[in-house]
Amino acid sequence: MKGLLFSIVILSISTVQAASLYAGKAKAAAVCSQCHGVRLTSADAPFPPLAGRDEEYLETALKQYRDKTRVSDIMNNIASSLTDKDINNIASYYSRLKTK
Ligand code: HEC
Repeated sequence: MKGLLFSIVILSISTVQAASLYAGKAKAAAVCSQCHGVRLTSADAPFPPLAGRDEEYLETALKQYRDKTRVSDIMNNIASSLTDKDINNIASYYSRLKTK
């Protein structure tokens, strides 16, 4: 019981953090990595790499895709389902990844 209460406290603390690397990682693995890879895109893939890129840049790009000020059929579609928090989490996750 004590253990359970403790976990609930930890969970509540982590959800109020500005960015959750864990949530960003889960989303990246489930969605983005299919095209962008995790650390590196595959050599013949036409998709820009995201790992180790500037966090602000990634956030801005995703928001532009979401409001369609940057046009890409694929990314407009994907970004339309992302919340500000998703974008924040994903950008902070990818920007912290080392490329090697
Ligand atoms: C079905 C393939 C596909 C998936 C899945 C996908 N992307 Fe993309 N992404 C692309 C393509 C293609 C481009 C290049 C679009 C363009 O020309 O602007 C791109 C571009 C981007 C860029 C701009 C990179 C740059 O150098 O300017 C970002 C940031 C990005 N994607 C993030 C994401 C994130 C985050 C996810 C997961 C939520 C994701 N993408 C999922 C195909 C994909």
